Amino acid sequence: QVCPYHSLLVWLLEIFFHQKQITHAHNTVSNFKRFHGRAFNDPFVQKEKEKLSYDLVPMKNGGVGVKVMYMDEEHIFSVEQISAMLLTKLKETAESNLKKPVTDCVISVPSFFTDAERRSLLDAAQIVGLNCLRLMNDMTAVALNYGIYKQDLPAPEEKPRIVVFVDMGHSAFQVSACAFNKSKLKVLGTAFDPFLGGRNFDGKLVDYFCAEIKSKYKLDPKTKVRALLRLYQECEKLKKLMSSNSTDIPLNIECFMNDIDVSGKMNRSQFEELCADLLQRIEVPLLSLMEQTQLKVEDVNAVEIVGGATRIPAVKERIAKFFGKDVSTTLNADEAIARGCALQCAILSPAFKVREFSVTDATPFPISLLWNTEAEDTEGVHEVFSRNHAAPFSKVLTFYRKGPFELEAFYSDPNGVPYPESKIGKYVIQNVAAQKDGEKSKVKVKVRVNTHGIFSVSTASMVEPVKSEECEDVSVETEVEAQDQRPIENFSDTNEKKGDQPPEAKKPKIKVKNVELPIEANLVWQLGKDLLNMYIETEGKMIMQDKLEKERNDAKNAVEEYVYEFRDKLSGPYEKFVCEKDLQGFSALLAETEGWLYEEGEDEAKQVYVEKLENLKKLGTPIEMRYQEAEERPRLLQELGHRLQYYATIAGEFRNKDEKYIHIDEMEMMKVEKCVSEVVEWMNNAVSAQAKKSLDQDPAVHSSEIKAKLQELNNVCEPIVTQPKPKVDSPKEENPLTEQSDYKTEDMGEDDKNSEMPQQNGECHPSDQNTINMDLD
Ligand SMILES: *[C@@H]1O[C@H](CO)[C@@H](O)[C@H](O)[C@H]1NC(C)=O
Ligand SMILES: *[C@@H]1O[C@H](CO)[C@@H](O)[C@H](O)[C@H]1NC(C)=O
Ligand SMILES: *[C@@H]1O[C@H](CO)[C@@H](O)[C@H](O)[C@H]1NC(C)=O
Ligand SMILES: *[C@@H]1O[C@H](CO)[C@@H](O)[C@H](O)[C@H]1NC(C)=O
Repeated sequence: QVCPYHSLLVWLLEIFFHQKQITHAHNTVSNFKRFHGRAFNDPFVQKEKEKLSYDLVPMKNGGVGVKVMYMDEEHIFSVEQISAMLLTKLKETAESNLKKPVTDCVISVPSFFTDAERRSLLDAAQIVGLNCLRLMNDMTAVALNYGIYKQDLPAPEEKPRIVVFVDMGHSAFQVSACAFNKSKLKVLGTAFDPFLGGRNFDGKLVDYFCAEIKSKYKLDPKTKVRALLRLYQECEKLKKLMSSNSTDIPLNIECFMNDIDVSGKMNRSQFEELCADLLQRIEVPLLSLMEQTQLKVEDVNAVEIVGGATRIPAVKERIAKFFGKDVSTTLNADEAIARGCALQCAILSPAFKVREFSVTDATPFPISLLWNTEAEDTEGVHEVFSRNHAAPFSKVLTFYRKGPFELEAFYSDPNGVPYPESKIGKYVIQNVAAQKDGEKSKVKVKVRVNTHGIFSVSTASMVEPVKSEECEDVSVETEVEAQDQRPIENFSDTNEKKGDQPPEAKKPKIKVKNVELPIEANLVWQLGKDLLNMYIETEGKMIMQDKLEKERNDAKNAVEEYVYEFRDKLSGPYEKFVCEKDLQGFSALLAETEGWLYEEGEDEAKQVYVEKLENLKKLGTPIEMRYQEAEERPRLLQELGHRLQYYATIAGEFRNKDEKYIHIDEMEMMKVEKCVSEVVEWMNNAVSAQAKKSLDQDPAVHSSEIKAKLQELNNVCEPIVTQPKPKVDSPKEENPLTEQSDYKTEDMGEDDKNSEMPQQNGECHPSDQNTINMDLD
């Protein structure tokens, strides 16, 4: 139950937390999203590594690897591969629920993710073959989820509604301010504390109780990963209880370490004191947001909070106090981001019709370009995207050069970026040459922040003037002469949708041709093509392996189920259908198979289980068959009896010259009589043969044979007795019963339905012919 447009899905990596974390302490990987696009020796990775229950190791390319057991062997997977596994799992879950293949997705990312982190996550989607339509900033997803259902948003000409979204999740705190129109949302600004989340609050409790346990019980939970994880889980529960209860809450853990039970207690005010420093940090991003956007708290129409940690009363209070108003919780705190992604996915996918709702995001970090100027040996630098610049967005830059040149993109405010490297990438614009007359060529370079929030130098072209007769086959662009004359770098901003044309075009024109130039990009932290292909192949193999493993397990489970089911039934419903000797043999085989399953047969190939099951079925199937036959036989015989009675009655009425059947031909009716008497004989033989059989013997007559006889009888008799009466001149009273030509087979087995068959008329005395003698069970 993720979204109303439930054919597409949503991938929210964060849901992977905690699951089975305790039972497989060393083999369950969680909290890995933040390792994307980072080096193993990144200080952030090193700091996180200490808190993990699994091992991180460096990869050959310097990236983060995760050590896990897979197929009973130690394997190292890159973080992209680990995320790919999660995506595969989510894809399969979605597919099995939707009963159709899932190919598109929208993945959420914290707004503070840099290009390297974003590209790494996209690689993970590519490994799985998922088409990621958009990497969506968490807070933008929340805003879309809020806006699309709101019926009362201001009309375009009115003042937009300003809403601040606050999200405190497990490990990060993010805020954004958005302006809403009837069918549009624009992100005005974002701010964050990437290291403040619910887990910090849990951590405070864990530290407190660790110290208490150390002094009270002389145990150090930090020396044992299992114990520490249990303490984390209990503290999380305690935190939740304290959110709704301000009295003392006990903490009890049985057999915590060395078989010792530990206990403690905590109350809300004590907890808030403990977390005072964390609570203080809440205000910082809020202040930054207001400053960036130049909004005053009075301008904010609503404050919406989401994320598990906003349930902590003190967190909520701080936020409310900052804005001087109550916070609203109209959105689902845990699913707001996922739902927003699902909505975005539906909007972007051609498979769905969704209400128009345009989303303009904001660039979280200012991005600058650096280049060498040709004349002197100096550098030029320009901020191409300022903080909170609208995104996605493209800009065209014009350079005047005689040869190839280099551009370097970087985050202009490294201190504001929670990533150790401020460089984004280096781009070489190739194949640039001077014009024929030796003058500098005009080179147009398009830079953009795309829908994933990733910067790129997307295209470059050299503008060459051409004579008019040459211009048929080339793309022609109108240019303003005056601009051509200006031998300096300059920029013209163009929104993606509008194209590159300058607006004023009234001056003298010359025809030009654009020559596409190749760009060599050298990005920070990029998986090579080879490595990516290898990961794709490995993932494919693992999916196949998983499938085989699942089939093997299913085959094993089938044997196990058969053993238990039969053992139960042999002492119940099947008891009468097996002779003493067979019962003993079969019971022994079942017991033996059960033992085998838990010992040498614990880990066998699929085929071995299939054969085991076949062997069991050789003995089990005849018993099962006898039981089912005995269940069905009386019902079918009874139905056959009723049909025979029915046709015999009609034949009798015909002989008695009953009005209803007077139109039927004599010869035809004799066919009915003959068929009835043959089937009666067959039935009587079958019944007496069956009477000689005991239940543990195979039946003398099978239900399939009875069904066939019933069919035969109906096929012969039914078309004859239901012949329509020819029309007569004088209208006669209609007998409703003659119209009742359709009988209902499914009702025939039940005795009380006899009345639905044509009844014998009281005036007619049944002759010998229509009394039939049947032995019914
Ligand atoms: C609301 O609509 C008007 C008119 O289309 C536009 O000028 C304004 O920027 C819009 N506001 C937002 C927040 O999109
Ligand atoms: C909370 O705990 C502290 C320290 O144990 C205690 O002083 C205070 O009275 C408690 N408050 C409530 C409401 O129980
Ligand atoms: C608060 O917690 C205490 C201790 O667990 C319990 O006795 C009390 O009933 C709880 N109060 C409420 C309102 O839930
Ligand atoms: C670009 O050109 C405009 C005039 O159109 C000028 O005002 C501006 O300073 C130039 N920018 C740069 C970076 O040279």
